[in-house]
Amino acid sequence: MTFNPLKEKGMPLEKQLRNWHQIVAKPYKKQKVDCYTRTRQILMNGIEVEGWGFKHQFNRFMTDIDGEDRADISRIGRIENQQQMTCNWLCPEDQSVLETTLGYEQVAVDLTAWLAQNEPDKYVKETFNFGLLEDFDHLYRYAQFAYMREGIEPDDIVQGQTDVILGRPTQHHHNCNGLRLRKHYDKMKAAPQTKVNILTVLSGEQQTHNFYAEHGFMYGDHVLRETYAEIKDVEEEHVTMYESLIDPAETMYEKLLLHEFTEVCNYYTCLKDEVDNEIKKYWEIFLDMEIGHLQIAADIFKKYEKRDPEEIIGSEIIIPCRFKNQKAYVQKILEKEINKRLAPDGEYYNSVDEIPNDWASYKVQERVAEISAPSENCINVVEFYHDRDIVEASDELKDKEISLLEKGLQVKASAQNTVLPDKLENMIKKHEQRKEMKEKII
Ligand SMILES: [Fe+2]
Ligand SMILES: [Fe+2]
Ligand SMILES: [Fe+2]
Ligand SMILES: [Fe+2]
Repeated sequence: MTFNPLKEKGMPLEKQLRNWHQIVAKPYKKQKVDCYTRTRQILMNGIEVEGWGFKHQFNRFMTDIDGEDRADISRIGRIENQQQMTCNWLCPEDQSVLETTLGYEQVAVDLTAWLAQNEPDKYVKETFNFGLLEDFDHLYRYAQFAYMREGIEPDDIVQGQTDVILGRPTQHHHNCNGLRLRKHYDKMKAAPQTKVNILTVLSGEQQTHNFYAEHGFMYGDHVLRETYAEIKDVEEEHVTMYESLIDPAETMYEKLLLHEFTEVCNYYTCLKDEVDNEIKKYWEIFLDMEIGHLQIAADIFKKYEKRDPEEIIGSEIIIPCRFKNQKAYVQKILEKEINKRLAPDGEYYNSVDEIPNDWASYKVQERVAEISAPSENCINVVEFYHDRDIVEASDELKDKEISLLEKGLQVKASAQNTVLPDKLENMIKKHEQRKEMKEKII
């Protein structure tokens, strides 16, 4: 049986204001939490930040709206703000910034992989696959620091659900912003699923950017601070890339409707999938609240645009955030597309060997890495701690690491401190030899 949220009543707005004790929930235990409960918590915080921010943009820009409707938008914004606090503050105080960071990148990898496989628009799907391999590499870079600084194995956080190994190297993610801009969908033709998928991943990426902006400085280690700066800048590109897929001709009323519908769909998925009974209660209450928001957004849309909301959001719920093991899909894309780059035409993609010498992104890459690339330094440094990089993957995928690096690297505009395939191979050999020596002693 399908679920049409427009046919549901939801919680009336006047009942949605909560007291401080209800707003501030009991955090989960980092030692016990299911990794996908954590990814839901991280994503829903991002969805709420976007939902809250959008209400403010709406009221700042809109002139032709009645006072009572404007007040309703503002009241809903207040509720988004309260929901955001509940979601974000489920995170416990003893979960370090780096542990949370691994959670953020696990969200990006497994969410984007799910969306790519459930995206009806081929071009949007290709863009999801492109972004996927960049966040996949971020997870690997941060995993090095988590090990060096805090003795954390990647599986302490990702719990064996997501591989941790190099992707398209982070130093090659820096592009001319003009090239990051994608072709946007046509709002008259795009499926509601495409619109919800994009808004979901965009909210996640924006919050990832904000988290690195607000936390990257919290470590004294300079290489780590620089790596946060470097990856934060890529997340800025991801926000640019995903938001550019949206048809700029969408009206603010359409956007309002899509924002509330996206919140409904995400909470609906969280409620269906949640394994933590305490946290599930929040997904249930918040879904009810969001259906209430959607009713108001639908009424406003009908009043000002004189159209049926189903023209925009359809009549069925969408599942935008089903978190599950995506290793097989990610490995397939990794092996096929690690050498992909943004094409100079500003719309499509090329492989490394197809891009011309005057590619606009080379200038950006040469400038930002003119001394060195922090994301390469982290592999240089981890050699002293562990002989080789920290990797968590099947033996089959581990055996492909050198060939993946060979395929993913560029010659032009690579940083001077780039870890080349030969060096990585030697590191791996040294690790094996020392492992044997250690085993003999024991
Ligand atoms: Fe919300
Ligand atoms: Fe990332
Ligand atoms: Fe990202
Ligand atoms: Fe909402």
